[in-house]
Amino acid sequence: MKIQIINGPNLNLLGIREPGIYGTSSFEDYLQELAEIYSGIEIRYYQSNVEGELINKIHETGFTCDGIILNAGAYTHTSIAIHDAIKSVKSPVIEIHISNVHTRESFRRQSMIAGACKGVIAGFGMNSYRLAIEAIKMNTI
Ligand code: DQA
Repeated sequence: MKIQIINGPNLNLLGIREPGIYGTSSFEDYLQELAEIYSGIEIRYYQSNVEGELINKIHETGFTCDGIILNAGAYTHTSIAIHDAIKSVKSPVIEIHISNVHTRESFRRQSMIAGACKGVIAGFGMNSYRLAIEAIKMNTI
C-alpha cells in the first residue's frame, strides 16, 4: 500500500508556528512516528508553499497511490484549482486539518476542496493524519 501525504503553505513551520493551535512537533518528527507505526505501508511526504506545486504533486501521484492525505492549509479555503486537480485524478483524496477549522475564524468554515474529496477529517491534532491513514486502510473510501 502506498499513501501520499501532501502539506500546503506554512505547514513546513509545524512545531514553531502557533504551537497553541498546531502543537510543538515538527512534521518530520511526526512522520518518523507514522513510519514506525505503519511499517508495512509506503508513506511518502511532500510539502510546498506554492499552489501550482501542490497541483503538480496531486497529478504526479494521483494515479498510482492508494490514497492522498491532503492538508492544503489556507488554500483549502480559496483554491478552485486544487479542487479541479483532485477531481482530475483517480486516487481518493482525504482533506485533513490539524485544527478544528469550524471553531475558528468564519473564513475557515468554507472549504473549496471538500466537495472533490472522499472525506474530511479535522480537529484531532497531528492524529488527523493517522485517522486518514486508518480510513485508507479500512478500504472504506
Ligand atoms: C489548517 C487549517 C487552515 O485553516 C490553515 O490555513 C492552515 C492549517 C489545519 O491543519 O488546521 O494552514 O489546514
